[in-house]
Amino acid sequence: MRLILLGAPGVGKGTQATLLSKALSIPHISTGDMFRYHISNNTDLGMEAKQYIDKGMLVPDEITVGMVADRLKQQDCRNGFVLDGFPRTIQQAKFLDKILKDLNIQLDMVINITLDDREIIKRLSGRRICPQCSAVYHIEDKPPKNEGLCDNCGTGLVQRGDDKEETIIKRLQVYHSQSEPILEYYKDKVKIVNIESHKLLEVTTKRVFEALGVDYKTLNAC
Ligand code: AP5
Repeated sequence: MRLILLGAPGVGKGTQATLLSKALSIPHISTGDMFRYHISNNTDLGMEAKQYIDKGMLVPDEITVGMVADRLKQQDCRNGFVLDGFPRTIQQAKFLDKILKDLNIQLDMVINITLDDREIIKRLSGRRICPQCSAVYHIEDKPPKNEGLCDNCGTGLVQRGDDKEETIIKRLQVYHSQSEPILEYYKDKVKIVNIESHKLLEVTTKRVFEALGVDYKTLNAC
């Protein structure tokens, strides 16, 4: 299955993409995670991207699209993928069309997750991530088993630098002006399913799995 998860910062794209990736055995491609990997390894790309990410702005298309094109050409994407955080501008969506055409593949669905901006600010302020394996937690809604430590690898959890309130507000502005118009772009091209994020993570996950016709129980088998 070839999927795109759209939605504002903090609606839960990364959380759902991780679950779908496991249940469907397809790679989870997150441009945000790719940038953070480059930043933590001090690469040139990472240093360039950091200047934008820290301000809540988008990394320029010319940096982002090349990185995604390289990833989608890898062998493990042959049977599908879930794109999280890409595309984020109309220009990126057009570029993705071109990559997929060159690879002779088509998208199956766009899942658009929605949530009120005020709720998003609350969610992002409580988010903690694992700097080692990128697992995502929330101090109240999805706490780790041992406080402050990643369930997967035991690494100390951290708050993302762009999860400060003023940066979250900037990211939301950027989303509404530059990324939301992508929905209109895809309207007549691919099936779009809108899913309202519920305050219970499990309810949102059930909605996403139902939209895809995937048995929710497959998650427990992973
Ligand atoms: P990126 O990392 O993609 O950030 P984002 O899109 O802003 O999205 P987030 O990761 O903040 O949120 P999410 O929707 O994945 O939510 P999550 O599952 O973590 O990008 C970061 C930056 O990189 C961008 O600002 C930009 O600068 C740059 N960038 C990335 N891609 C780019 C591109 N294509 N072009 C240009 N620049 C790009 O969940 C959030 C919290 O809520 C967690 O704590 C989670 O546990 C909790 N939660 C999730 N679901 C629920 C639920 N249903 N109920 C309760 N809590 C929940």
